[in-house]
Amino acid sequence: MNRTRAKLAAALLLAAPAVVLMAGAPRPLTDLRVCADPFDLPFSNDQEQGFENKIAHVVAQDLNARVVNYWWPSRRGVLRNSILGGFCDVMIQAPVGLDPVATTKPYYRSTYYFVYRANHGLQVRSLDDTILKHLKIGVNIIGYDYTNTPPAHALGARGIVGLVGFGNFLNPDPKADHPDDIIRAVASDSIDLAIVWGPLAGYWVKRQPVPLTMAALPDSDAVSGMPFAFSMAMGVRHRDKELKARLDSVIDRRRGEITAILQEYSVPMLELRPTTTGSSQRGGQAVAAPGAGSPRDSLLVSDSIYQGWKWFHVYCFRCHGEDAMHPVLPNAPDLRWVLSKDGKAYPRDSFEYTALNGRADKGMPAWKVLLDTAAVKELYQYVKARSDGWLKPGRPHRESDLKKSQ
Ligand code: HEC
Repeated sequence: MNRTRAKLAAALLLAAPAVVLMAGAPRPLTDLRVCADPFDLPFSNDQEQGFENKIAHVVAQDLNARVVNYWWPSRRGVLRNSILGGFCDVMIQAPVGLDPVATTKPYYRSTYYFVYRANHGLQVRSLDDTILKHLKIGVNIIGYDYTNTPPAHALGARGIVGLVGFGNFLNPDPKADHPDDIIRAVASDSIDLAIVWGPLAGYWVKRQPVPLTMAALPDSDAVSGMPFAFSMAMGVRHRDKELKARLDSVIDRRRGEITAILQEYSVPMLELRPTTTGSSQRGGQAVAAPGAGSPRDSLLVSDSIYQGWKWFHVYCFRCHGEDAMHPVLPNAPDLRWVLSKDGKAYPRDSFEYTALNGRADKGMPAWKVLLDTAAVKELYQYVKARSDGWLKPGRPHRESDLKKSQ
């Protein structure tokens, strides 16, 4: 062996253990970068007063790391703007099976609750109670169409409509609503009953000036097939397998402490099931898991709004303007203004009628030749979303698009 080769061999031998170490031993984690909502008690707030904040510190302490919070409200686009965007690495709470992220083993399970005044003679225990048809019912909503929280689905399946919606998942302003609004509405009699995700209910019911009753909904709904109970875990990006493994072992080691924190926040807990996967996804439809308080579902726009956007940019934009603004034809109105409350406040029926039948004498074509009523309804939904302002100009995303871009 010549000298060079000997040297090389020695160097390799020396280097080998180091290489093995680097590959085998986990890198020390100095920062636990947590995704958190700045204004969402009892889950989290920017004073770190929520249970997610407390749990984050337990986890960080166990891993010898420090908590670095990345604040982003749990609103439309939250996943893209926080964990999936790489701004933070851990969601302290994610329903098991939430597709866009990988979830750890669960550390608690809860369900939805009826909440009503204790002294008004009400005794609601079931969604099939006929009295529900006569009550003013509040639910947390994600979209303006009331369609994506489990209680709203379940009530809709029973023909109970006209719900009062709380929460403002579509408004980017984190303070646009208060997480306790729905419970305060019950306490102040502006609604008769609310159906609320357990942790949100448990915490805020205790903080009202009048006694409120909480009654649990079943694990799932026989009529609509909606799940009501969810097992909650931590969420990481799919590729962060090492971090997920660490969190799994922290959850094992610190289960007692974590449970104690949840109890301190009056989180009503069910027994954990061994496996509960896919519970946040039913029939291809996005179901926002647990309450608008912690909806970490990736709903961006619904399929129907997406379709509406497509129709609009095939047929309508050349007169009414791209993104339903800045009309191209001088006498074609800005359709956002046509639908807005501060504008013409055009009702849905009139919009659909005009779109289908047109106004030949005024230069508005009749679209029934090309479009059916379903397409016109989608068009209305799109323009309404633009008019309400939460849907920004440009190509909207659907949940399925988000998954593809991961
Ligand atoms: C060739 C141009 C043109 C196209 C394409 C067009 N519109 Fe119009 N639209 C008009 C004009 C012009 C008016 C105003 C008619 C009037 O003055 O009464 C109008 C009015 C309307 C109105 C009634 C607004 C109001 O204030 O009364 C609706 C709703 C509407 N359009 C929807 C649509 C939809 C939906 C599409 C696409 C499927 C579309 N339009 C495509 C020209 C167009």
